Amino acid sequence: MKSKGLFIVFEGVDGCGKSTQAVKLAKFLEDSTGRKVIKTAEPYNLRELILGRKDLSKMSELLLFLADRAEHVEKIIKPNLEAGNFVICERYEDSTRAYQTGGHGVDSFIVEHLINDCCFPLPDVKILLDLSPEIAFERVKARNNQNDKFEAEGLELIKKVSDYYRNFLAGFIRIFCDNLNEDEVFQRIITGLFLSAGAGYSNGRYSS
Ligand code: TYD
Repeated sequence: MKSKGLFIVFEGVDGCGKSTQAVKLAKFLEDSTGRKVIKTAEPYNLRELILGRKDLSKMSELLLFLADRAEHVEKIIKPNLEAGNFVICERYEDSTRAYQTGGHGVDSFIVEHLINDCCFPLPDVKILLDLSPEIAFERVKARNNQNDKFEAEGLELIKKVSDYYRNFLAGFIRIFCDNLNEDEVFQRIITGLFLSAGAGYSNGRYSS
């Protein structure tokens, strides 16, 4: 059975503004539809284990992100979609593609294979906040989050991840954020959602 809810995912490099826009969109959708909106993010509950351990092999890092997603899907995403709620999630499968393959060089065939085997629900809409790596890096430096090993990898990682989002991933509402303030980015998100609403996208994995 197809889910009754709506699953919206934000993607982009560290520092691109996902959290700010997810909060704005959650409020907008709640106010304008009266539906329950759940705002959530990955990594979910294995966050400290994954982000705090600098010694993990790339493969175990990949498997841990998938294990984290399995928890997240089972406990938050699926039940809320089945209840007819809107779920807004910061980061999902494309983060795994962009960071583990684009950033850390895990073979894309392995990543794709594992992602597909997990059969997690597919997003109805994906929004990519596309911000130049140099600007994103300045923001990441300013927040100085010592507990996140990905942020500690600096500009080099952000460039690789950004390149992967831009050149190897598709299916997004893509917002170029470099010269826009928060409100302008949000306006473009709403326009993008409005324009894509007629597409009637139905994912193959979650519906049956
Ligand atoms: P987080 O502090 O949530 O970053 P942000 O606020 O920018 O989303 O840290 C999550 C980090 O984990 C981020 O650097 C990207 C990384 N990540 C992966 O490498 N693979 C994944 O599948 C996910 C979900 C996140």
